[in-house]
Amino acid sequence: MKVLVVYYTMYGHTLQLAQAAVEGARTLHGAEVLLRRAQEFDAVDKVIDENPFASQIRDQQKDIPICTVDDLREADALIFGSPTRYGNMCAQLKQLLDSTSSLWVNGEMEGKPVGLFATTASTHGGQETTLLTMMVPFLHLGMLIVGTPYSIPGLNHTEARGGTPYGATSITGGKGELQPHPVDLDIARALGKRVTEVGMKVRSPLPAMATV
Ligand SMILES: Cc1cc2nc3c(=O)[nH]c(=O)nc-3n(C[C@H](O)[C@H](O)[C@H](O)COP(=O)(O)O)c2cc1C
Repeated sequence: MKVLVVYYTMYGHTLQLAQAAVEGARTLHGAEVLLRRAQEFDAVDKVIDENPFASQIRDQQKDIPICTVDDLREADALIFGSPTRYGNMCAQLKQLLDSTSSLWVNGEMEGKPVGLFATTASTHGGQETTLLTMMVPFLHLGMLIVGTPYSIPGLNHTEARGGTPYGATSITGGKGELQPHPVDLDIARALGKRVTEVGMKVRSPLPAMATV
């Protein structure tokens, strides 16, 4: 079963959550887990050229393939992660989703599980709104939203870190100076495992109907 983790990052935090989701998915026997990044815009690439830290993060990702529509088509379970942009997903990921009309028209994503993760600079900068608004296009595509329920250790807390029932999250700081809390990464791993488990259940044959 193919599990696809797709993300965008500029300063590396969302990549760390993506890698944790990959790790979680890989704990299940029979999962082929692929990591893909969203295509960058030329205009943002020019901005990154002027920023040594963002350039270093871009260099770190040069061997991670850019996600294609075929990657989405071939995946059985998917996990998407985005840094927040004004409480919504980033345009780089939206650009990918806006190229999926052939998948939508043919119902090719229907019934596939999808989980989400997000990062924000500030505590109340829009983790929940980003995750909830990210769900909308996936519901249009007919996908099955998989959250991160309170049975996951570390979710029910009042600390300055991530963790929502809508998906995995982390707080980066205004200058990207924070790192994901270890529990944020654990929740991202739990998300990866849970989406994979749901994908396996969805794909397993239904039991035969009892005859009366
Ligand atoms: C155009 C723009 C809008 C942003 N909007 C928000 C926001 O609404 N709330 C917030 O907390 N952070 C906001 N940020 C900060 C990013 O969410 C933060 O840099 C990101 O989560 C870092 O993730 P990364 O390390 O994966 O790039 C914004 C950043 C940019 C460039």
